[in-house]
Amino acid sequence: MGSSDFVCWCISISLLLALMSAQAGYARKITHRQDMEESSMAVHNMDPSVNIYFKINDLNIGKTIPVYLPSKNLSASPHLLSREEANSIPFSSKNLPQLLDFFSFSKDSTQAKAMEYTLKQCELEPIKGETRFCATSLESMLDFARSVFGLDSGLKVLTTTFLKKPTSVNFLQNYTVLDMPKQISASRMVACHTLPYPYAVFYCHSQKSENRLFQVSLGTENGDRVEASAVCHMYTSQWDIDHVSFRVLKIKPRSSPVCHFFPPDNLVWVPLPA
Ligand SMILES: *[C@@H]1O[C@H](CO)[C@@H](O)[C@H](O)[C@H]1NC(C)=O
Ligand SMILES: *[C@@H]1O[C@H](CO)[C@@H](O)[C@H](O)[C@H]1NC(C)=O
Repeated sequence: MGSSDFVCWCISISLLLALMSAQAGYARKITHRQDMEESSMAVHNMDPSVNIYFKINDLNIGKTIPVYLPSKNLSASPHLLSREEANSIPFSSKNLPQLLDFFSFSKDSTQAKAMEYTLKQCELEPIKGETRFCATSLESMLDFARSVFGLDSGLKVLTTTFLKKPTSVNFLQNYTVLDMPKQISASRMVACHTLPYPYAVFYCHSQKSENRLFQVSLGTENGDRVEASAVCHMYTSQWDIDHVSFRVLKIKPRSSPVCHFFPPDNLVWVPLPA
């Protein structure tokens, strides 16, 4: 397991935090802030990865939105373990010293900090109305999705996908909406975000509040094409008043829906219609 591959996943921490605080609200804000400062990847106005937010009325043909979309390099991503392999490795903060030994990371390394961060995130209690789970294998992710949708529910996954290798090395680009966005009707959704760890770990969660899911065709002037998944959170009245999305969108906090694109390393599960 290459440790350099693992480090590059840490860049998604700030984005993940933005997403998590969007959906998890104020309760965990303090922990987030401390973690972010420790990892020196704070969410602030200058971080380009906060450019994932948009307003619901931006979902119109011809509308241009600046979006930060890092293209996914699968061969550089941490490996997904089978359930058996994952279950054979402890996944708990109290086992951190052993785990650092096992993966040969020194106690003060970036990797150690990231592992500690991930384990802590996975041990937080869910906030009111939220169901959450950290999946260390695909099987456990599917089980979690079924526990939310119903055990015999079929599952469909949505992702953000580049239709061809991007021409630009800039992750932040102006994207134009090319077609009428397609709304995906789903009673519930489970969004899974990657967490930095030596193997693939996904923080998956689901909330009962009203969300609208969309699949949006985006294009840039230089010919890049992306099929992007996006969600609009229709009620933001419970969100942290300082939530970064309000600043990015320059809107009055808690006043209107907030939408965001999912980065390419996220998986969004929805139930198949019966
Ligand atoms: C993807 O990552 C691998 C391993 O780090 C690297 O060798 C390869 O050049 C990368 N590919 C792209 C398209 O960046
Ligand atoms: C997007 O377009 C606006 C308006 O033309 C421009 O000011 C901005 O620099 C562009 N952003 C990027 C990332 O290209």
